Amino acid sequence: MKERVYNFSAGPSMLPIEVLEDAAANLTNYKGCGTSVMEMSHRSKEFQQIIDDAEANLRKLMNIPENYKVLFLQGGGTLQFSMVPMNLMTKNKKADYIITGSWGKKAAKEAAKFGDVKIVASSEDKNFSYIPEIRAEDLRQDADYVHICYNETIHGVHFNKIPDTGDIPLVADMSSCILSEEVDVSRFALIYAGAQKNIAPSGMTIVIIREDLIGNAPENCPVYLDYKTHADKGSMYNTPPCFTIYIAGEVFKHILAMGGVGEMHERDVRKAEKLYNYIDSSDFYKAAVSEKDRSLMNVVFVTGDEALDKEFVAAAREEGMTNLNGHRSVGGMRASIYNAMPEEGVDKLIDFMKRFEEEHK
Ligand SMILES: Cc1ncc(COP(=O)(O)O)c(C=O)c1O
Repeated sequence: MKERVYNFSAGPSMLPIEVLEDAAANLTNYKGCGTSVMEMSHRSKEFQQIIDDAEANLRKLMNIPENYKVLFLQGGGTLQFSMVPMNLMTKNKKADYIITGSWGKKAAKEAAKFGDVKIVASSEDKNFSYIPEIRAEDLRQDADYVHICYNETIHGVHFNKIPDTGDIPLVADMSSCILSEEVDVSRFALIYAGAQKNIAPSGMTIVIIREDLIGNAPENCPVYLDYKTHADKGSMYNTPPCFTIYIAGEVFKHILAMGGVGEMHERDVRKAEKLYNYIDSSDFYKAAVSEKDRSLMNVVFVTGDEALDKEFVAAAREEGMTNLNGHRSVGGMRASIYNAMPEEGVDKLIDFMKRFEEEHK
């Protein structure tokens, strides 16, 4: 392909073109250092500046309170499925999980290796197409934490209200919605997010953790898996994913320059509403998720005919719109429209959908 496509991948996904072009211009000689960020020592003053700025700008973007640490780790969202219970399920060895899709389910399965996990609510009965009602009395008051996946990437479901867990620490996987909406960080004990959707290339996971939850891992916890290790060493206990941290920092600057997370959210709402409105207005396509629980980032839809869905994905690809297939576990279509997807990409998709409908209904 000669031109860049509109890439609807769930992750890794599109990054802001301005950031990519600036990174390309600085690729072999970063700001006159005579070396690229990829080749730079993580102990150099240049890299220290990069990581410090990245943290400061993320704090600004998310309004992260002083009593929270920001960690840049490796191992993806997946490693957090283990690190969270290893570090937090340490008092009563109990944790409550709310399951609204495949990622939350995986997290719960992993946590069960470390203690007593209770599924306090689940929407699996209707193929994860809604957010279940959560009542305070469903939660165990002595649970060490409650875990949710704030935006389920595969099923396209999103919590539009933070569940009230009272004094029980709330942990949220925000891998596929971080920086797409303003969240009150103080309502969460821990937030984690893989970088490869709204932030940077893959290779880095952000953990935002309230300080009192650090330092409770058992003696035999491997050093890399203890949040304290990373909190004490400014995320540089060992060699960090330098290039990903650098791009993340550039994306943070870019979002700040665009007006911050509130501005991103307005754009994201506009893009998602257009797409859902079109789907709802058509008899040909059907959205998979109940209206009030729909994700702004991952728009899941079907035609109701598997062969036609496949044809749709292939034909869209021919027109420069890639990765519109649903996750291999659910099929259908999924348009991931993260922050860096331009509104023109969504317009082009809707235009294609109309033509495809005309030709196939
Ligand atoms: C919500 C969510 N959590 C966790 C993961 C797993 O992330 P990783 O592949 O970085 O381990 C993903 C991956 O797409 C995800 O979407």
